[in-house]
Amino acid sequence: MPALAGRRVVLGVCGGIAAYKAVEVCRQLVDAGAHVVPVLTDDATRFIGEVTFSALASEPVRRSLWDDSDPIPHTTLGRGADLVLVAPATARLLSAYASGYSHDLLTNTLIATRAPVIVCPAMHTEMWEHPAVVDNLTLLRSRGVVVVEPESGRLAGGDVGPGRLADASSILAAVDDLFGTQQCDDLSGLRIVITAGGTREPIDPVRFLGNRSSGKQGHALAAAAVRRGATVTLITTAGGSRSVPTPPVDVLVEVDTAAEMLAAVRNHSPTVDVVVMAAAVADFTPVAPAGDKLKKRDGIPTIELQPTVDILAELGAQRIAGRTLVGFAAETNDVLASASAKLAEKGIDLIVVNDVSAPDVGFEHDTNEVRILGPDGEVDHVALRSKSAVADAVLDAVVAVRRPAGSS
Ligand code: CTP
Repeated sequence: MPALAGRRVVLGVCGGIAAYKAVEVCRQLVDAGAHVVPVLTDDATRFIGEVTFSALASEPVRRSLWDDSDPIPHTTLGRGADLVLVAPATARLLSAYASGYSHDLLTNTLIATRAPVIVCPAMHTEMWEHPAVVDNLTLLRSRGVVVVEPESGRLAGGDVGPGRLADASSILAAVDDLFGTQQCDDLSGLRIVITAGGTREPIDPVRFLGNRSSGKQGHALAAAAVRRGATVTLITTAGGSRSVPTPPVDVLVEVDTAAEMLAAVRNHSPTVDVVVMAAAVADFTPVAPAGDKLKKRDGIPTIELQPTVDILAELGAQRIAGRTLVGFAAETNDVLASASAKLAEKGIDLIVVNDVSAPDVGFEHDTNEVRILGPDGEVDHVALRSKSAVADAVLDAVVAVRRPAGSS
C-alpha cells in the first residue's frame, strides 16, 4: 500500500470490547508503512493494555492532556497527523465529537486537527440504531468525516446484530481509499535523490559535532516521492540506529559524515532529474579526529576545524541540463533574505526555508511551516502542517518549476 507509506496516523482507541481488535488495525497500518501514534482513552485501557499498542505502534501510547512532556499535545498531535482514525468509536465519542465537547486527549485531537478523520463505530445494536447516534453520524458525515460502518454479527454478551467493529482489512481499505484519492503519479518516470538528517563529524571515537536535524522532513519527502511514482534514492543519516522510519525507496544509502554524504551525492546524482538536499550538512569538520577518546585529565582540547565541501553549491556550479536542484535552509532571523541569497549563491532552482525559532517548526518536530522560493523570487507559503503534507507541497513546487514555460 504505497499510499500509506510515511503517513502519520493518529489511531484513537475508545473503551469498548472491540478495543482489542484495534491492535490488529495498528499492526496492519504499521505493516503498510504508516507511522502510527496510538491515543487511548482511559476506558480503552480497561479493555486492552497500553503496552500492547506501544509495542506494535511507531510511538508509545498517549493518553493524557496533562502528563506529557509536550505542553500542548492536544494541538500538536492533530497538526502533525495526516489522518486521525478512531477504532473503535463508541457512542459517547461520536456524541462528544459531533458536539465539539473536548474532554480528553482524543476528543481534543479530533477538534484540533485539520487532517481527514475516519471513525469506525462499534456498539450494541440498540445503541447503533438509537436516533441520537444516527443523528450524530449524519452530522459528522456532513462535515466530511468518513464512517466505516460496523458489521452485523455476534456482539459482546452473545447478542447478534449490527454493531460489530468492521474488520481490520475493511478499515485499512478505507484508509487506503482516502489516501488513494489524494494520490497521483505525477513523478512517474522521474529519478530523484533526496538527502536527509544531520551529519556527524567525529571529534574522537565517542564524540562528534552534530546538529538538531532529525531527518523526519527528508524521510517524509522520500515517502511522498515514492507515493507519487518517482524512482527514489534516499541518502540519509537518519535511518538505522537514529531510528526515523525509512520509507520504501528504491535505493537507500546510509551515511554519517559530511564527507560520506558528499561521496554518496557525487555517486548517485549525475544521472537523476531532481536532487533535494534536505540534509543539514556540517559546514566544518575536525581536521584530525583523535584516534582514542579524549580524556578530561588532559585538559580542554583545542579542536581545529576545516570547511567541508558545500555539496549543493558544487551541484549548482556544475549545472546539468534538465536536473532540478532544491535546497533547504533552516534560519532563525532574516529568514527570506538569507534564503534568497542562498538560492542565488548556490545556483539552484528552489529553496525551502523555515524559521526554526517558531513553535512546532522544523528540527525534531512532526510539523513544519515553510516558504518555498523559486527562480523569480516568488514565495509560496506552506502553513504549519504535517511534514508529509509539507513534502507534497515541495514536490508540487518541483513539478511546477520543471514544467515547460507556457504549459499549465
Ligand atoms: N548544504 C550542502 N553542503 C554543505 C552545507 C549545506 O549541500 N556543506 C546544503 C544543505 O543541504 C541545504 C543548503 O545547503 O540544502 C543550505 O544549508 P544551510 O546550512 O542552511 O546553509 P549554509 O550554506 O551552510 O549557510 P549557513 O550555515 O551559514 O546558514
